[in-house]
Amino acid sequence: MHEIDIYAALPEGVYRYDPMSHELRLKRAVDARNLTGYQDFVGDAPLDLVYVVNHFRADQFPAEQRDTFAGVAIGAISQNVSLYCAAVGLACVVRGWLNPRLLAGAMSLNESEIPVLAQTIGHAGATV
Ligand SMILES: Cc1cc2nc3c(=O)[nH]c(=O)nc-3n(C[C@H](O)[C@H](O)[C@H](O)COP(=O)(O)O)c2cc1C
Repeated sequence: MHEIDIYAALPEGVYRYDPMSHELRLKRAVDARNLTGYQDFVGDAPLDLVYVVNHFRADQFPAEQRDTFAGVAIGAISQNVSLYCAAVGLACVVRGWLNPRLLAGAMSLNESEIPVLAQTIGHAGATV
């Protein structure tokens, strides 16, 4: 169902990851990194990933399972990113402290697309 969309907030824009073509598709040419959370490092990080539940696509799950499955899926995806970062020596942190409304507006999401978790990726020990 691919009910989780992965967005990459980069300095030059916000991109949606297309898993079928393994490409990034430009969503908005804005630097939204500082809107992916409240902590000051998020705006200077090389990359902030944002995990978005697409409730329109999740509607094939029984209603009482949707939120649980979405959380499990985001946890598994972000854990894979963490494993990759550990393998190549990058630093990363998952963050739930974000403003979903603000972020959805900056990313031009519709009402069925809800940002749930962000993950900052950078260089270990880097200072800003
Ligand atoms: C679902 C979830 C949400 C989290 N949200 C935040 C957050 O918003 N800000 C934060 O600093 N840490 C958050 N954390 C904790 C960090 O991801 C991380 O586990 C913690 O900072 C310890 O990292 P360290 O062991 O590398 O120091 C969250 C962890 C989880 C599992």
